[in-house]
Amino acid sequence: MKYRDNPKFPAGFMWGASSAAWQVEGGVAEGGRTPAIIDINSKTKYPFADNSIASDHYHHVEEDVALMAKAGFSSYRFSLSWSRIIPEEGVVNPEGVAFYNKLIDALVANNITPIVTLYHYDLPVWVDEKYKGWYDRGVIDAFEFYCRTCFREFGDRVKYWLSINEQNMQILYGNWLGLDKGCKDWNKEKWDINHTMNLCHAKAVLACHEMVEGGKIGPVPGYVPFYPDSCRPLDQIAAMDAEELTEKMWDDLYVFGEYNGFIKRYWKENGIEPKILPGDMELIKSAKIDFFAINCYRSNVCKYAPTDASYMDIELNKTGEKGNFKYPIYPGLYEMIPNPFVERTDWDWDIDPVCLRYTMRYVWDHYHLPMMITENGFGAHESIGPDGKIHDEARIKFLNDHIYQLGLAIEDGCDVISFNLWSFTVLLSTGNGMEKRYGLVYVDVTDDQLNNAKSLDELSLKRIPKDSFDWYSKVIATNGACLKGPEGE
Ligand code: BG6
Repeated sequence: MKYRDNPKFPAGFMWGASSAAWQVEGGVAEGGRTPAIIDINSKTKYPFADNSIASDHYHHVEEDVALMAKAGFSSYRFSLSWSRIIPEEGVVNPEGVAFYNKLIDALVANNITPIVTLYHYDLPVWVDEKYKGWYDRGVIDAFEFYCRTCFREFGDRVKYWLSINEQNMQILYGNWLGLDKGCKDWNKEKWDINHTMNLCHAKAVLACHEMVEGGKIGPVPGYVPFYPDSCRPLDQIAAMDAEELTEKMWDDLYVFGEYNGFIKRYWKENGIEPKILPGDMELIKSAKIDFFAINCYRSNVCKYAPTDASYMDIELNKTGEKGNFKYPIYPGLYEMIPNPFVERTDWDWDIDPVCLRYTMRYVWDHYHLPMMITENGFGAHESIGPDGKIHDEARIKFLNDHIYQLGLAIEDGCDVISFNLWSFTVLLSTGNGMEKRYGLVYVDVTDDQLNNAKSLDELSLKRIPKDSFDWYSKVIATNGACLKGPEGE
């Protein structure tokens, strides 16, 4: 098939951007919010800033929404802070509810559809202390109470809900996000934690359908598709195994309500089966999702790793200097290797626009459910230029090429309803503070300034739309018709 013309996005397609409470809000001790485990975890990333102030969205809500409206957004995906809404067990915080009402009302007033994530890495400390994180099953009732509060307070205006952000990545990178805190044997206990999270997800799905009129809810897998290194048959199986262990086992469960045969065998062989109680699987199976929200930034490549290969764990690039990513080897399964056909970001993330088309096709072919992109974007070192502007051509190219491929996926027959890039303003990255800058709108603050500030008054935190802001406004205004296709394909 040839694609000479620009792909067509459907009428009513929702264009927007994305954020998460702890990465953008700040105001951690304001409005009755109590601490979350991510407050502690983000301090371990020093010299990068923690989340005490972040982009100070807490005090810039109206200004930020006005900028979204200026760009022509029709959607905005953000998360709620559990401990801002439920600061202690069984207590609803009216100030926390009022903060999100202010945000949601501003969005609705500007015809921007709110897409709301219930959980994005910020477990309240009170939950952590009482239920050992996600380990004890008491967390299930606590999470359900929180979700029901959100549906009751915001469900009249919020119709798109997302349960748990990147459950797969939280399990795969438990130490990065602090999920392994308190675990004695993470490699075993993580599957119990994962099972509890699945039960929490199921409770959220059922409560949403019960309480929100016209409400739709889905999970948010982080997708990094695996390509096989070669046509060697064992490399094909290696890529399939990698998909099973990093993505598919979660998605199969969300859709079919069952752990698939591959993962059950993997658990059994390794003696790490989770505790599944009577009634658990029936509950999970009864919770039918409405769509997939997908975060997709990049792809991976792997080849078969023989059983006698030496084990090597994955090590993320934490410096922002190219070449610091350590490719893992999992004997008997797969070895990750660099892709010679693509460029990489300064954090060694493969820049592969086609992976977005691939992912859409993969998820659509397996599950036949509508999809939305809730994250895709370009993290870079960035500062204000001598003319006071931010000329982020590399981000524009990244987004153009990815959104174009998303359009091709739609023409391939995939049902995609929304694209939300990561992120709207600059915000904290998961491990590199403000240094790894995403977003269409620059926030004038550095990690050092955040670390050293004694009060907010010392900081500028000025919002400066980047070149990509104007570019994305045109994409929205033309419903994607101004995107440029790759040369020579
Ligand atoms: C996603 C997360 O996995 O990737 C976000 O949902 C995160 O919270 C984003 O910020 C980009 O990752 P990083 O590490 O560059 O911040």
